[in-house]
Amino acid sequence: MNNPLPPEEENSAIDFVTMPAKKKEDRLLDSTLRPRTFEDYIGQKKVKESLSIIMEATKLRSEPLEHLLFYGPAGLGKTTLAHIITYEMRSKLKITSGPALERTGDLASLLTNLEDGDILFIDEIHRLNRTIEEALYPAMEDFRFDIVVGKGPSAQVLELNLPRFTLIGATTRIGLLTNPMRSRFGGLFRLDLYSTDEIEEIIKRSASLLKIPVESAGANVIARCSRHNPRVANRLLKRVRDFAEVRGGGIITEKIANQALKILEIDDIGLEKLDRRILKVIIEKFNGGPVGIQTLAAAVGDEEDTLVDVYEPYLMELGFLARTPRGRIVTPAGYRHLGMVCDPS
Ligand code: ADE
Repeated sequence: MNNPLPPEEENSAIDFVTMPAKKKEDRLLDSTLRPRTFEDYIGQKKVKESLSIIMEATKLRSEPLEHLLFYGPAGLGKTTLAHIITYEMRSKLKITSGPALERTGDLASLLTNLEDGDILFIDEIHRLNRTIEEALYPAMEDFRFDIVVGKGPSAQVLELNLPRFTLIGATTRIGLLTNPMRSRFGGLFRLDLYSTDEIEEIIKRSASLLKIPVESAGANVIARCSRHNPRVANRLLKRVRDFAEVRGGGIITEKIANQALKILEIDDIGLEKLDRRILKVIIEKFNGGPVGIQTLAAAVGDEEDTLVDVYEPYLMELGFLARTPRGRIVTPAGYRHLGMVCDPS
């Protein structure tokens, strides 16, 4: 307990820009910047290659595309891939999410309104409730939907034939998907964090689409703070553009980018206040850990899911935070980044 928590880290009115969970402002950004073809899509080379082969083979055999599952942290392009596949297969896309499907009737009306070859995208598929998940199994396997009519001994099951659709599922939490669900997908694809070079390329592409003048060194500064995540990169680009227009000559130079990030309180590796706060809380309240995720969530005042999906992946990628069987710990590298001393006593 040797490092006091600086007061400026306590309460903040600042909106966190480097958190990859989707926000309202991303919708417009996504639709403007979203690559439409594999050619435009930067990064995820292996996933693109495998998908291209599956799609080509499917077209040759004139079969429906098999069900596909994308998993990995938020903001890496799972929805974008579903759009690209739809475009390249010349099909139509319907988008929903696990929590949006509350009743079996919601699923029935979605599925019965599909046409042959359509693609149904279910985001956050790990959050489907069990009844809906079980109703999806025959739909995925046999293009069949079972409706139970009536109750008790006189109940009857009606079998509805469905069009030959493709389900694309996306999840940030592959571990929460049940085995029967996972095994019904023909292809599972993990999306990895992007390299800094790839993120820089994405920033330059986005800047050119949005007609934002950006120098290479300026793009590089933003790329290095983007947590290897295109959604974060595009969001930061927009914020830095605002700063460049108000405080600079409208051009994103290295100096302007650095100044903007300083004002946003994003450090040189892309950590924001809340990331630092998580590390500090573990150090100061729990002596560096281990601390269970529920206790930690209560201590930082955020939800457990948000910590696991949004904050932890990058802190762990940096090697600042580790998961142990007894809970989360801050590593010596995490202490060093905060300028704190790891005191094992
Ligand atoms: N915008 C967001 N993600 C992208 C990607 N992977 N390639 C190109 N532009 C993008």
